[in-house]
Formats: sequence, C-alpha cells, structure tokens
Amino acid sequence: MSEKDQTASPTIESILNENRMFHPSAEFAAQAHVGSLEELERWRARGEADPEGFWAEMAQQLHWFKPWTKVLDWQPPHAKWFVGGTTNISYNCLDRHLTSWRRNKAALLWEGEPGDSRTLTYQQLHREVCRFANVLKKFNVKKGDRVALYMPMVPELAIAMLACARIGATHSIIFGGFSADALKDRINDAGCKMVVTADGCWRRGTEVKLKPAVDDALLHTPTIENCIVFQRTGTKVHMEVGRDHWWHEMMATVNADCPAEELDSEHPLFILYTSGTTGKPKGILHTTGGYLTQVALTTKWVFDLKEEDVYWCTADIGWITGHSYVVYGPLANGATVLMYEGAPNFPEPDRFWKIIDDYRVTIFYTAPTAIRAFIKWGEQWPLRHQLSSLRLLGTVGEPINPEAWMWYHKIIGKGRCPIVDTWWQTETGAIMITPLPGATPTKPGTATRPLPGIQIEIQTKDGHPVGANQGGYLVIKRPWPSMLRTIWGDDERYRQQYWSEIPGVYFAGDGARRDEDGYHWIMGRVDDVINVSGHRLGTAEIESALVSHETVAEAAVVGRPDDLKGQAVVAFVTLEGGRTGNDELKQKLREHVAKEIGSLAKPDDIRFADMLPKTRSGKIMRRLLREIAASGVVAGDVTTLEDFSVLEKLRTDEE
Ligand code: WTA
Repeated sequence: MSEKDQTASPTIESILNENRMFHPSAEFAAQAHVGSLEELERWRARGEADPEGFWAEMAQQLHWFKPWTKVLDWQPPHAKWFVGGTTNISYNCLDRHLTSWRRNKAALLWEGEPGDSRTLTYQQLHREVCRFANVLKKFNVKKGDRVALYMPMVPELAIAMLACARIGATHSIIFGGFSADALKDRINDAGCKMVVTADGCWRRGTEVKLKPAVDDALLHTPTIENCIVFQRTGTKVHMEVGRDHWWHEMMATVNADCPAEELDSEHPLFILYTSGTTGKPKGILHTTGGYLTQVALTTKWVFDLKEEDVYWCTADIGWITGHSYVVYGPLANGATVLMYEGAPNFPEPDRFWKIIDDYRVTIFYTAPTAIRAFIKWGEQWPLRHQLSSLRLLGTVGEPINPEAWMWYHKIIGKGRCPIVDTWWQTETGAIMITPLPGATPTKPGTATRPLPGIQIEIQTKDGHPVGANQGGYLVIKRPWPSMLRTIWGDDERYRQQYWSEIPGVYFAGDGARRDEDGYHWIMGRVDDVINVSGHRLGTAEIESALVSHETVAEAAVVGRPDDLKGQAVVAFVTLEGGRTGNDELKQKLREHVAKEIGSLAKPDDIRFADMLPKTRSGKIMRRLLREIAASGVVAGDVTTLEDFSVLEKLRTDEE
C-alpha cells in the first residue's frame, strides 16, 4: 500500500463526497409538529431575534408552581434560566398526566433479557415513584443530598431517578459497566449519602453481578449511610446489617403519599460524570427548569412525538442519552417509552427487530456503532421481521458514516422513515444540532443545522468564524437552557475547559465544518477524548489506570479508527526497570484497566516500547502515536521530536 492509501481516512473522504439529499415525504410533513422548512425557518428567525422569548414560550408549556421573573441571568460563564420560577421535573413527568385519560396510558413498557416483561401506566409509575421517594425520606435523604444510582436497565432505575427529583435530592447515575473503583471515586467526589443498586442483571444469557462491586466501593466511601438493593436476578448477595436494605422490603413500609417539592428552577437535578482531558472524570451538573424545557421540546420536535407513539431509545440510562431521552424528555411529554434490559444479539442477532414488531415500536433512536454491528451481523436478521410500525429513526453519539446511514434508511426504515442525526453532549444536556423530520431535507452523515434558539459557529482557535467547508472548532455562542451549570466541586475547571479555550464562547471539543447549505459535519473530538462505541473515554484516565500497575513506567493512549466501534483504544506502554512485555502481561494490563475503570475502557491493543516519542519539552507526541496506531506510518512533521530512533522502534514493534 502506498503511504497515501494508508493514511487517508475513508470516513472523511466519503463524507466529503456526500451530496445525496432526502426530503421529508409529504405524508410525514402533513402530520408533523413542525411540518415545513418555512415553518422551521420562522421558528429559527424567532429564536435568532429573541432567544429568551422563544425559550420562555417553550417553558410555558410545562408546569410551574410559581412563574419566573427573569428568563435568563447570564453572568458569563454562569447562566441561570427562568430565575425565580419554581417547578419539579417529577411532577411534570407524572402528576401532570394524571388529570386526564393519560393516567391509564402505558408510561413504561419494559422487557427483560430473559423475555419477562412489565408495563407501568402513568398512574402506577407515579405510585411507585411516590413510594420510593418516601423510602428516601425514611433514610433521611433530604433536598440537596446526593444519591448514587448504580443499576441495570430496570424500571426501578427510572423510579429512583424520579423519586430523587421529586424530593429535590440530586442523583448521580454511574453506568453499571463501571468498576468498583470508578464507582467509589464518583461517590466520593459527589459526597453521596446513599447508593441504590441491584443484585445483578442479565446480559447475553448470563448474570452480571452488581452488588459485589458496590460492596468493594463502600469500603472506602465515608459519606454513604445506606444502600438499597433491588432484587432482579435473585442471586445470593452479601447484605451488610444496618447498611443494606432490600428495595421490596422497604417499599412495603411506606405509603404512596408524597407531593412533589416546589423546587427552584436552578435546583441541582443531577450530576453525571464524563471523561475529559485529564485523568479525573468531570461531574457535569444539570439543574431543573432549563433542562426540563429543552429536553421536553426536543423530544417533541425532533422525534415528532405523538400521543400514540411507542418510543424506543436504546441507550442505557447510565449515559446522558438515557437521562434525557429514555426518561425525562419522553415522560415529560406523556409518551409510551420502551425499555429493554439486555443485549441486542441475545438469544439471536434479531432481538431488537423482534422487540420492534412485538411492541409495534414507532420511533427508534440508537447509536451508529450499533448500526454498524447490525450491518456486520447481516440483513437477514432485520429482514425476518416486518418493522412496519416504524415511522422515524434517529442516531446519536458519533458521526454516522453515510454507508451506515443508507443501510439504516433502506433496511430498517424501508425508505419510508426520516432519519434524525442528532448532535449533542453530556454537557449540552439536550439535542443541539439536528434535522426536524417533517421539515429538514437530510444528507447522510450530517446532523444538519442547529435548533431554533441555539447559536453555533465554527471558529479558528483565535475565535474567528471560518468559511464554508473549512474545518474548525465547534463553539456555542449563547447560553442555552439545558447547558451544564458547572463541574461539580470544580468551577475553575469548568471555566477553563469550556470557556477559556476560545474566550467568550462555549468550546465543545469537536472539530466540524459547515457546508455551503449551512449543514454541520462533525469531524470528531479535537481533545484527548476518544469515542469508543459511542462512549466517551478520556485517554488520560486510561493512562493513569495503566500507570497505576506496578510494571508500568509510562503510558500513552490514543484512538485508532475502527470499523465497528468508531475508535479503538491503543496503548503505548513503557515498563519499569527494563522489563520486557509479553502477551501475558498485555492480558494482565487489560484486566487491570477493567478493574480500575470498567471493561469498556480495556485497550484493544497494547504496544510495549523502550521510550515514548516526546518533544524537547517532554510532551508526549500523541499525534505521532495516533498515526502509528492507525497506519504504522508517520507522515506528519517530526521536527520537534527529541529522539527519532524511538519512532523507528515503535514502528518495528508492530511487525
Ligand atoms: C459525539 C452523547 C457526530 C461528539 C449525546 C460529542 C456526535 C460527543 C454526535 C458527546 C453526532 C454525539 N454526530 N458526533 N450526531 N452526537 N457526538 O457526552 O464528539 O457521550 O462531543 O454525549 O459525542 O458524547 P456524550
């Protein structure tokens, strides 16, 4: 292969050549909430001329106990939305629907991996939430306290979230794939008072245990007073006397009377940890009124949500997508939400398609990495099922390559369903750049244009807008309702990471370009964050996990393009005291990372080296490592490299 062939990125190339356009069908547009480009442009003009008026109009559609006195208080980089207003997101997701026929509508349709299923109507969900809120109170959890949720995809996770929100406790959900160490760090960072977990859950036919990780974590979490354990699998678990309590036993001791607290619009709703450029994960803080407003609006508009829909977002609730688009957004709209516990390929690779047919799912929202896995498994699996109930498809989490988009369009959508490619982040809380399905003509591979009320620009590092089709940094120029408010306990880092890279604007950390139609093409992260199967991982976090192993002297972690996962994790490692690496040690290091962070961060590839390439000032040259990881060849500038022989060595190691 020539050097050019090896270094060219197929994704970027094909994206550049992409000019197919798909218009909303007249039939879809006729029934859509926003049914034409003209209408969308009118909203955009409104959002441009009077963003605060626009968002206030959207917020008015929700329930407020007390109206706000000021829409936005912007003291850069701190925003307060709907100042002086009081509301409650649990009230908006539940109580509001109980006064009409909706009380008997299915709120949650849940299917366990073994095939068991449950349905909770709004009335039933409300009852469970009120009861669990009373359990929280019984254990002295108060407004402002933090509660850690480390749970599988069971209705009780949504119940626990809504119960916390109901009494004003701030939840911090830790994805069940994280290790005991990661759980411990997150509990301690937020100073959580309680943890809610389960004995285990089902994944690919086997039981995954959760409680043992909690037991390990709780050896080093001084702020935790109690632990509530939901029984899912029935496996035997250790129950620490005085600390651990069964969910079902506690629920039997309380009644269902628990009015929602009137909370300030800026009351902290949740903390969600995400990876950044340094080793320590950032606790992204979201508050109540603005978050509710933007997730409710985007769920309605972007998914064109209607009363009769069966809506399914496949994300785990442990990630932001699950917070905003499995629980809060859809329930605030009174939707019927499907929730599935397990793997997409159990017992066979058609499980998702079977679920869609069984429940007559109409809206399906998933990640490009999942779509690429479906493509790999083969179209015979979806073709076994009708999929005739589907009317809208969505994607999130990473750029979707046009080939995957076309496959999704043809094989799953049968050419009938609009696709909404939605760009947003843990920090933005809700969707920011997206088509509206009845209005926006789409092109495979682009999230198209910002929502009304959202102002996005592509800029150079010194803050100048770039021209059409020029790459630059994606920034957000105005505060938006569901924006993060700070990093928990580290406001300085909040200012620095998001508002100082390019002064005066929010720095998203993504590279992008805008084409001649004003459509945004996301080119991926520009910082040391990699996106593996739609999950954000900080390379620094994996490096510090590797270095904490006794044999490792130094480590550098980079991403390499991967057909299935988007990016794969490659670690370059130097060992202590002239040790030499071997396959056994590679395995040990992979396990060590799994223990420190979780299996999702395990390096796909570990390469041992005598030295890492560094600049004269001692900075690891990640760009070179990225090139080596991707292609084995270094094409870029190496003039600042301290020792060229290091490069030679890294290259020969691969052969
Ligand atoms: C990437 C997930 C291209 C992006 C909601 C962003 C995307 C990061 C898209 C946030 C998309 C998300 N097209 N890239 N439609 N959606 N990303 O915090 O790099 O887990 O910065 O939030 O995912 O990941 P996070």
